[in-house]
Amino acid sequence: MTAEVPDRFPDGFLWGVATSAYQIEGAVDEDGRGESIWDRFSHTPGLVRGGDTGDVACDHYHRWAEDLELIADLGVGLYRFSVAWPRILPAGSGRPEQRGIDFYTRLVDRLLEHGIAPMVTLDHWDLPQALQDAGGWPARDTAARFAEYADVMFRALGDRVRFWVTHNEPWMVAAIGHRLGLHAPGVKDFRASLRASHHLLLSHGMAVQAYRATGLSAPMGIVLNLFQTVPHTEGEADAEAAIASDGYTNRWYLDPLFRGRYPDDTWGLFQRVGGPIDFIEPGDLLTIAAPMDFLGVNFYSPRIVRAAGSGEASEFGWVVERPHPGARVTDAGWEVDPDAFTALLVRLHRDYDPVPLYITENGAICDDVIGSDGSVHDPDRISYLDGHIRACARAIQAGVELRGYCAWSLMDNFEWSDGYSKRFGVVYVDYPTQRRIPKTSYGFLQRVVAANGPP
Ligand code: FCB
Repeated sequence: MTAEVPDRFPDGFLWGVATSAYQIEGAVDEDGRGESIWDRFSHTPGLVRGGDTGDVACDHYHRWAEDLELIADLGVGLYRFSVAWPRILPAGSGRPEQRGIDFYTRLVDRLLEHGIAPMVTLDHWDLPQALQDAGGWPARDTAARFAEYADVMFRALGDRVRFWVTHNEPWMVAAIGHRLGLHAPGVKDFRASLRASHHLLLSHGMAVQAYRATGLSAPMGIVLNLFQTVPHTEGEADAEAAIASDGYTNRWYLDPLFRGRYPDDTWGLFQRVGGPIDFIEPGDLLTIAAPMDFLGVNFYSPRIVRAAGSGEASEFGWVVERPHPGARVTDAGWEVDPDAFTALLVRLHRDYDPVPLYITENGAICDDVIGSDGSVHDPDRISYLDGHIRACARAIQAGVELRGYCAWSLMDNFEWSDGYSKRFGVVYVDYPTQRRIPKTSYGFLQRVVAANGPP
């Protein structure tokens, strides 16, 4: 399926790389930064592999200028990064910390000097711990705090930021952070996760409204991690399980954002499992559906689902399966399926006909090592990126309005509960020395950008 794709993307297509604050910055106690839920989580013994924390990470807070040269040398026109909320509002509300604002101002200004459009994510999971102590995302008040923080950033950088993203992957925060407890804040409570998902969406809408009120006009959107959900077998039970699971991961977010309502089937399922959904107030859905300008899509791997067998433990009635035997997988065991990526994008276009799309993350974990000649060869990552970039080209051919693609990630970084054990970067980070070594995939990406398509 990889032949016959156009070797050029549309003029003006934006190529980029992505990072997030907690994963790269370090400097957690500097310049007035407050504690975040990821500081608290990673410092709790047993929650992150190897006891790793983001205390130092890639030391990007000090090495940002050097890192920016690496981005510029890629030739990209887009850099997606996030602002650490606790650097701006260390206590979650109150007076903004100017030193935090200054850091991002320097970064944005330097990007613009290089002709790189800054895409700023306001919330990439590092909620101020003070807000967690006040109830976190399950508490409605957190939505108002987010809108206030967003407004601070709009006023500080709104004249220069080219794209705003409210949240990164609310499903991960709600489901993995509040239902399974594998990410911060480590809560295991389905009702809490439902409340969290609603307040994340509500706060997105409130921030969009706050942005419109400023009169600024850069595109504003949200980033969702969407799963192309594939039934394990062709049987009817697995097909139904896949639809239900799609409601859980995808439609619970897409429908309110683009249709102003939660999907009926998922609503019914969630009430059966979690009890009455009684925390939605009149007007909330209208706020959530406030028109936005683009949707950011993060894609890594399809989600293979089958119906749970009788007696098999499953809260919702489905089970997420391992890749099919013989399927291509990354070093982390995630199935590699570029066709699923095309299918997802085409489905978004068909079912939602939403706003223009940007791929805000896509990439692969590889067991990278420094070779005896000092270089890092990552052919599997190149093959992954090549396949998924071609998948984007096929989606564009099919009519999808896709405007940009960001590889995850610029450099290896703190991979949440996996700590530093998983490498996603096109630049290798030697953590003991903080030396950056561009991998062969970095050169590949340079060639993609230069050719405006697969080289
Ligand atoms: C996404 C996150 C990102 C990174 C990648 C691998 O879920 O948004 O921060 O960890 O996965």
